[in-house]
Amino acid sequence: MMGPVAEHETETSQAPAWAVGGRRMPRGARLLLASAALVTASAVAGQAVSGGGAPSAAAETEEGIPVTDSLTREKCGACHTADAKGNLSRISWVRTTPEGWDQAIKRMVRLNGAAVTPEEARHIVHYLGSSHGLAPEEAKPVAYFAEKRMIDETNIPSESLRTACAACHAFAQPLSWRRSAHEWKLLQDFHVALYSQADAQYRRPATDEPGDVFGQVKPVAAKPGAIPLTSGEVALAYLRKVAPLHSPEWAAWSQREQSPHLAGKWLVSASLPGKGSFFGTMEVSPGATGEAFATRTTLAPLSGGPVITTNGGGVVYGGYSWRGKAQTGIAGKPAPDSFDQPLREVMLFTPDRKSAAGRWFWGEYQEFGFDVTLTRADGAPVIGAISPGGIQAGVKGQTLTILGDAFPAGLTARDIDLGHGLAVTKIVSASPGEVVVSVDADAGVAAGLHDVTVGSAVLSAALPVWHRIAYIKVAPETALARLGGAAHPAGYGQFEAWGYDAGPDGKPYTADDVKVGVVDADFSLEEFRATWFDDDIDFVGKISKAGFFTPNLDGPNPQRSGNRNNYGNVWVVATAKSARDAHGQPLVGKAYLVVTVPSFKRIDQPEVAQ
Ligand code: HEC
Ligand code: HEC
Repeated sequence: MMGPVAEHETETSQAPAWAVGGRRMPRGARLLLASAALVTASAVAGQAVSGGGAPSAAAETEEGIPVTDSLTREKCGACHTADAKGNLSRISWVRTTPEGWDQAIKRMVRLNGAAVTPEEARHIVHYLGSSHGLAPEEAKPVAYFAEKRMIDETNIPSESLRTACAACHAFAQPLSWRRSAHEWKLLQDFHVALYSQADAQYRRPATDEPGDVFGQVKPVAAKPGAIPLTSGEVALAYLRKVAPLHSPEWAAWSQREQSPHLAGKWLVSASLPGKGSFFGTMEVSPGATGEAFATRTTLAPLSGGPVITTNGGGVVYGGYSWRGKAQTGIAGKPAPDSFDQPLREVMLFTPDRKSAAGRWFWGEYQEFGFDVTLTRADGAPVIGAISPGGIQAGVKGQTLTILGDAFPAGLTARDIDLGHGLAVTKIVSASPGEVVVSVDADAGVAAGLHDVTVGSAVLSAALPVWHRIAYIKVAPETALARLGGAAHPAGYGQFEAWGYDAGPDGKPYTADDVKVGVVDADFSLEEFRATWFDDDIDFVGKISKAGFFTPNLDGPNPQRSGNRNNYGNVWVVATAKSARDAHGQPLVGKAYLVVTVPSFKRIDQPEVAQ
């Protein structure tokens, strides 16, 4: 091995055996201590560094963000040295989400022997998640990570970045952090020391570099005789550029941030794959601190059925970022996909605190979840949701229900505007929370998203107007399920078929297409032919007609050749029940499903919600 990392290794391996909390430190941590000049031997042995510590953050050229909370200074300062400006080494040069801090602190406890109780850790996560957090603009693009969404990441700027930083974990893992230039380098060194494959990934020759515009890449040409640029180097340059410690967004938000003041009534509009749309309210009441709240939520399925009621609470980080939990009163163990069970809530409030969006989820792999939008109901008329989700062109007398709050009395059809080509002919019924209208749609109205207006309240781009379902897409388009049910819990999948209008240009799969709504379909599995005599379909599991995939047991399976696991890849096929193509054949959509082994190590931070 060559290079600076190897040199440090030789150096530190000469050093005395470092012990933390009575345990020998792993090689990686020792290496990092040396390269980062973090602490001296006395500090590692558990005593606070007072003056005698190695120069902390000596290589830092950027201004740190001071740590002002006394418990954090006490607990973390035992190893992370303080400077005259109130900075703690390393900690003052990074910012991240609550989950990021939680993860770092857990490692401090497990690996480095930091002594913090769960209550202290929660306090510190809360402090650092706010004081050393992300600005709302920085948090939003990676919200899917905290929301535990299983998605195909489209934010990876180049293949070299994928190789370097998205081969082992989500690319959102690094993008959830902001660091000084020096800290981005230390993170790489730390990976090399701790995670065996990281060095190999970083050393792979870079094939491309992110261009100035996202999505454009520049090829990396190997110059004869020159040392080739590595993926790790490309990644380092990119992250230093796009995720710096100091950003205009953070500077502005640090000034603006205040207690969130969320108490009051909120409308909740939610959709749950496979179960449809829901509407209800969340009553938020003040908790023990300005950042903590208690909640009581009711959600009613728009297609009818019992109302779910939950009680819970949440904390807000940085004045906008909600982490909550909610519990139904239901006893016993419900079916895995049953929606009336304990939920975790991750939401981002908009800076004006008039709305929020996020996901309320559950499941062993957090694979079940409501997509949620909150709208503040503060006495002024507001619209929270509509039902059904669309209006068909050329059809008269369609019923549309508009759900909201504080609708004025005495509404007439003229107070309700659905845009060009849609005439509200009469109000069927009206109450402060619900207006039902009858709508005539012109045959000539273009497909598109319309605003819904009731008096002074507007729900923008909320009402799809459509002519014909031109095609269906199965969501999610790519999915991952986990074998399980014997030794390990299973990871399920729920699929839906979404209907699309081809839009004003009449061409399917173009930018003007309109996503209309969930289409009734029957689901089945089909072999994805990857090898000769591929037989995965016999082993991976079963899908219900309604699109619920239940994986097979975790293997090995003696009935399968080679005593293999039940893993495999298959197509999930949706066949529309009534939507047909130009030839009268039912519309068909497909999604790609990988069924893999259980995740034996799971990284999760549920405690950020307490
Ligand atoms: C017992 C000593 C010790 C204590 C106490 C300690 N740390 Fe650390 N910390 C380390 C060492 C060693 C490293 C370098 C190796 C590593 O990253 O695990 C480190 C590195 C870090 C890093 C950089 C990690 C990265 O992602 O690059 C952060 C952030 C951090 N610590 C946060 C904290 C916080 C917050 C606390 C207080 C809850 C804390 N530490 C308490 C020893 C400690
Ligand atoms: C060889 C696999 C691997 C590669 C490649 C990799 N990581 Fe990681 N990374 C991990 C593991 C494992 C963790 C620790 C997860 C845990 O236990 O919390 C981690 C954690 C992190 C964290 C959380 C911070 C912390 O202190 O734990 C960040 C940020 C991160 N990686 C960034 C990156 C970046 C940036 C790159 C590319 C330069 C990268 N990772 C490449 C395996 C990898």
